[in-house]
Amino acid sequence: MTKRVFVKTYGCQMNVYDSARMAELLAPIGYAPAETPRDADLVILNTCHIREKAAEKVFSELGSIRHLKNAKERRGERMIVAVAGCVAQAEGAEILRRAPFVDMVFGPQAYHRLPEMVARAAREGGGILDTSFPPEAKFDHLPATTAAPEVSALLTIQEGCDKFCTFCVVPYTRGAEFSRPAAQVIAEAERLAAAGAREITLLGQNVNAYHGAAPDGSEWGLADLLRALARIPGLERLRYTTSHPRDVDDGLIAAHRDVPELMPFLHLPVQSGADRVLAAMNRRHTADDYRRTIERLRQARPDLALSSDFIVGYPGESDLDFRATLDLVAEIGFAQSYSFKYSPRPGTPASAERQLPDPVKAERLATLQSLLQQQQRAFNEASIGSMMPVLFEKSGRHAGQLVGRTPYMQSVHADADPSRIGAILPVRIVGLRSNSLTGLIDGALEEAAQ
Ligand code: 5AD
Ligand code: SF4
Repeated sequence: MTKRVFVKTYGCQMNVYDSARMAELLAPIGYAPAETPRDADLVILNTCHIREKAAEKVFSELGSIRHLKNAKERRGERMIVAVAGCVAQAEGAEILRRAPFVDMVFGPQAYHRLPEMVARAAREGGGILDTSFPPEAKFDHLPATTAAPEVSALLTIQEGCDKFCTFCVVPYTRGAEFSRPAAQVIAEAERLAAAGAREITLLGQNVNAYHGAAPDGSEWGLADLLRALARIPGLERLRYTTSHPRDVDDGLIAAHRDVPELMPFLHLPVQSGADRVLAAMNRRHTADDYRRTIERLRQARPDLALSSDFIVGYPGESDLDFRATLDLVAEIGFAQSYSFKYSPRPGTPASAERQLPDPVKAERLATLQSLLQQQQRAFNEASIGSMMPVLFEKSGRHAGQLVGRTPYMQSVHADADPSRIGAILPVRIVGLRSNSLTGLIDGALEEAAQ
């Protein structure tokens, strides 16, 4: 009889990628996806530790899963509960102590051993903890992606980080920086393209630090890899995330100029616009360094749209520092952004510093978010009336409607037949909703593009 697995994903796209790989690893041992945890014989929470809120969500979710598991047991059935990902890595034994009904806890570098762990949990009944490093082993042991046909696919090429920003848990949860060999990445991208992917987003905690072994024995940076991937037939669009400003090199800037498949959208987190704060965060660049990098990128690709991450209320951040962040935002202009209140994370240097009061953080966040939202709106409004090539990815909520993305990552809703999923069509942008655009597919233009 088929068993069912329910995987719930928190946090970044790298976790989304990992969750898909986990499901693939479990298929050969008889697990099909479940719609809800209620229907599942195995529940995996793939967790995030980046901010306190993200980590706490896991324990509240575990509360409701405990009830489901108990109910199943009363019916004489079994439910295996697993906590995976970054909370598992950071708090392994603590999870088993706080939630003893959890059967397995394993970190992001150990999930290739999932079939073995599931078999053990079924046999021995729980208590399994695997938070071992390093990532090399994992990628060598993952099966080839069976690639459920996705129009826009994710591909992890790099993991971990050696930068040690003082606020960040990633060096502790994902470990030292590691780049997958280029040949392995190319083979995976070819399989994804053959299965119908038109777009691939390359993932890494610090993806532009990529330095993988090249097919010819030398070493490739991200720009070399992008140029090679751009040659894969059927792949029309490439993106990468998340980058560090220090690792934007000349080669990468040139790739933004020369590689048409590389989409004109870049997520380049700056965190703060104040040099004092950037230094305290150990970001290893100034606000002006960031401005110069953006200027060079815009020279290479004038229509480049930008996105960033910001932290407000970092320990010691003054009103003046915060104003410097607002100034930087006003000057650069972001198409989209993520902003957070500083959240002290266990074991990171900044968590030992004196914290700013929460109301100060909340006020600064509200001020920054209102400016960022204004910019996002202005960016989207400027698209109204233009024609954009939209890659349609899936059906929308309403019948007859598809959802896709412009080169600039804007989400577009348009009426079209589901057979057009996977097509890049010229769309006239006609309206703006809160977070997306609406568009019309011009029949005549569509014919011309065939
Ligand atoms: N508190 C608040 N935000 C954080 N981020 C990372 N660590 C913290 C923290 N301790 C944010 C950064 C990063 C994004 C992924 O999450 O802005 O770029
Ligand atoms: Fe969260 Fe970072 Fe782990 Fe991604 S890598 S899940 S952002 S803690």
